[in-house]
Amino acid sequence: MYTMAPQRCIFFPYLLLISLSYFLPCYSTTSPGESASDVRAGYGSRMISDEAYIHNSINRRTRFGRLLASVKTVSIDDFGAKGDGSDDTQAFKNAWQAARSSSVAATLLVPKKKYLVKPIRFAGPCKAALTVQIYGTIEASANRADYKEDGTHWLLFDSVQNLKVQGGGTIDGNGNTWWENSCKINKALPCKDAPTALTFYNCKNIIVKNLKIQHAQQIHLSFEKSTNVQASSLTVTSPQTSPNTDGIHITNTQNIQISSCVIGTGDDCISIVSGSQKVKATDITCGPGHGISIGSLGSGNSKAFVSDVLVNGAKLYGTQNGVRIKTWQGGSGIASNIKFLNVQMNNVDNPIIIDQNYCDQDKPCKEQGSSVQVKDMLYQNIQGTSASDVAINFSCCKDFPCEGIVLQSVNIRREGAVAAAKASCNNVKLSETGAVAPHCP
Ligand SMILES: *[C@@H]1O[C@H](CO)[C@@H](O)[C@H](O)[C@H]1NC(C)=O
Repeated sequence: MYTMAPQRCIFFPYLLLISLSYFLPCYSTTSPGESASDVRAGYGSRMISDEAYIHNSINRRTRFGRLLASVKTVSIDDFGAKGDGSDDTQAFKNAWQAARSSSVAATLLVPKKKYLVKPIRFAGPCKAALTVQIYGTIEASANRADYKEDGTHWLLFDSVQNLKVQGGGTIDGNGNTWWENSCKINKALPCKDAPTALTFYNCKNIIVKNLKIQHAQQIHLSFEKSTNVQASSLTVTSPQTSPNTDGIHITNTQNIQISSCVIGTGDDCISIVSGSQKVKATDITCGPGHGISIGSLGSGNSKAFVSDVLVNGAKLYGTQNGVRIKTWQGGSGIASNIKFLNVQMNNVDNPIIIDQNYCDQDKPCKEQGSSVQVKDMLYQNIQGTSASDVAINFSCCKDFPCEGIVLQSVNIRREGAVAAAKASCNNVKLSETGAVAPHCP
């Protein structure tokens, strides 16, 4: 139990507020059917206690620190950052070192100016809990030569625990030059990766909230090999034409909750790939872009496992896909226990799609003897309109049919028409409950 301290009266309402802000949106969009199955799986409640745990663990450290001394604030300006268009990389690096070696909880402050920086690796461990408070804009160097050493990251948090990144500011990948040099835009160029704007790698107890992340070189925000993550109130934006600019990418990460995010980019809104378990996304708005995606899985004959994904409460506007699962021929592994609940489609090209023959390369993909198994999926309360004739497309393969697919209360019309949309269903074992339109033939 906590000892009584004056700070308690500050933190207690704060915790209460966080708990409330979690419960309210969650339960207001939860249908009775969903909460029942969630409780059965012990899944929803588990996520709640995990989130409380992240906050507690960060705040307990903070409060403990305050008994000894106040939170240490480290401003990048004290380390020589100018915010005048000159290179502020070194100031960020030095300020990070000071903040992470503080034995009391520290706040790394980014004031309300625009700071230009090259790639930075913010490495842990930190001695105490750390908050990165971004009021201003952090803008990426547009000189591609600056990314010689590691071409795949711009801002990288590596092996950090008990970290919050927040503050209402902006992270700007300045991606134009990368987009122009992408092989998807200029076919004469070889295909190369571009940096992810903001990466959390091998991290634990992470909160990322209230930020704008825009114009990423490639992926905007990526969680890799991390556990206990909460990402909320993020606005993620890039032009529809920007190549491979996924909004939020999740790989090898467990216990992650994404809530109240607005994401419009040139690629997937949220992409969830191999090694990810217990992923929950609530109150997500997508568009433009490619929609919410599990996969791609199994590329290059790899083994892929994704399970316990819950998307509850999403609105998609004019996206290429709504909720999609995509797997390559030749892969193996399983994608299972995936629920899409309460999704509103607005003029979406492929509202519901499972594609077990995904092929994102110039050469056609050969048919191969194996595939990632897709099973135990629930589509519940999916409403709205399809921009194409085919609103539901289950394109599964013969040797590994999709199994345990449940459609419940689905109603998708053809945009601008009275006629119902169609369903195309290959090699899928499915059941329907409630009113479902369109039907599999
Ligand atoms: C279903 O999706 C697959 C994969 O994208 C595509 O090849 C196929 O043409 C689609 N089927 C229909 C009927 O649109």
